[in-house]
Amino acid sequence: MRETRLFSPFRLRDVTFRNRIAISPMQVYMAGQDGLANDWHLQHLGKFAAGGAGLVFTEGLIIHPLGRSSYGDCGIWSDDHIAPLRRITDLLHAEGAVAGAQLHHAGAKAARRRAWDDFRALDDEDAARGEPPWQPMGVSAARVVAKYHAPRAMSDAEVAAVPGLFADGARRVDAAGFDVAEIHAAHGYLIHSFLSPISNDRTGPYGGDMAGRMRLALEVAEAVRAVWPEGKPLFFRLSCIDGLEGGWSIEDSIRLATELRLRGVDLIDCSSGGIRSTSSIAAAGSPPLGYQVPHAARIRREAGIATMAVGLIIQPEQAEIILQQDDADLIAIGRVVLENPNWPLTAAYRLGSDPDRKTWPKPYGWALRGLDAARSDNAEETGA
Ligand SMILES: Cc1cc2nc3c(=O)[nH]c(=O)nc-3n(C[C@H](O)[C@H](O)[C@H](O)COP(=O)(O)O)c2cc1C
Repeated sequence: MRETRLFSPFRLRDVTFRNRIAISPMQVYMAGQDGLANDWHLQHLGKFAAGGAGLVFTEGLIIHPLGRSSYGDCGIWSDDHIAPLRRITDLLHAEGAVAGAQLHHAGAKAARRRAWDDFRALDDEDAARGEPPWQPMGVSAARVVAKYHAPRAMSDAEVAAVPGLFADGARRVDAAGFDVAEIHAAHGYLIHSFLSPISNDRTGPYGGDMAGRMRLALEVAEAVRAVWPEGKPLFFRLSCIDGLEGGWSIEDSIRLATELRLRGVDLIDCSSGGIRSTSSIAAAGSPPLGYQVPHAARIRREAGIATMAVGLIIQPEQAEIILQQDDADLIAIGRVVLENPNWPLTAAYRLGSDPDRKTWPKPYGWALRGLDAARSDNAEETGA
């Protein structure tokens, strides 16, 4: 058995992760209009825990109905959302994973169709089938992309109420049994749109200079930390760079991460992009593998805080090297785990940390040992 970093445990506050693999938050647009999680979400997230992930994140759970990206999003704006999420955390725990919940408000990117309908703005056709559009609220009245609804600029009083909404969401995910909460401040959504000089042209307390643009992010972190139990880790997802001229930079992220650490945030989840595009992935095009890892590495070193690397980390060896180089503490995977929910177990086998498939669920492990033996015998016969 080979010792690997990827399959070494990790501890933050009172929570121990069995390995370094996290399932990145992914919206699946499968909730009903009430925003309640259902059996689809249960099997979707449960199979990642059974597949060996150390940490399984929900999709971005919406803290206020006006902040819904689409009518298919899961909500956390009501106490009614707690019970179905509790079924999910019970299953994740039974399968040995840590349960993470992402808290989300889509800001000016609200009121859209689902991803496979190209995130188009809701229109009369949608209203006719029971999904009427609404006017999103945002940092300013500017559209994120031309095809979206023009948002309404939030008043300072409305912005000042946002931290309390995130804190209410945190209280509910705690009641639902989650171990980790993550504040979504990336991809052009509400909090990111206040950070970026491209989107934030406000005057007053939540605009202007860097301190003004960071104010909402820091107030949300403080409000959530105040209600989130001391023993539970708090993550913060950033678009570490806008990737556009005059935009939010890695130096800005290092400064913000330092401030967040001082306010009790434990880890920065290092994504990028999305400030003027439908999605962060669309904005990235076809980037090289691990394209966001350098952000995780710099923030880890220069802000002195744990980081999670994400974005086209698709090979076990690649994930292992990122950890060995101390570029990140956790590895988040998204699309590869949709393709193979057993990616973590497969990685442990391939890296030699579980050569006998002992960590696989028993009904699979014994069967696959037979398959491994047959493969190796046939390889000898064919000389492969
Ligand atoms: C279907 C899908 C839904 C996503 N939903 C979210 C989300 O709710 N919150 C979020 O922060 N990122 C979301 N993302 C971005 C992923 O968390 C991740 O950062 C991105 O897919 C890059 O990682 P990958 O290359 O491993 O897929 C989503 C990505 C996909 C593919």
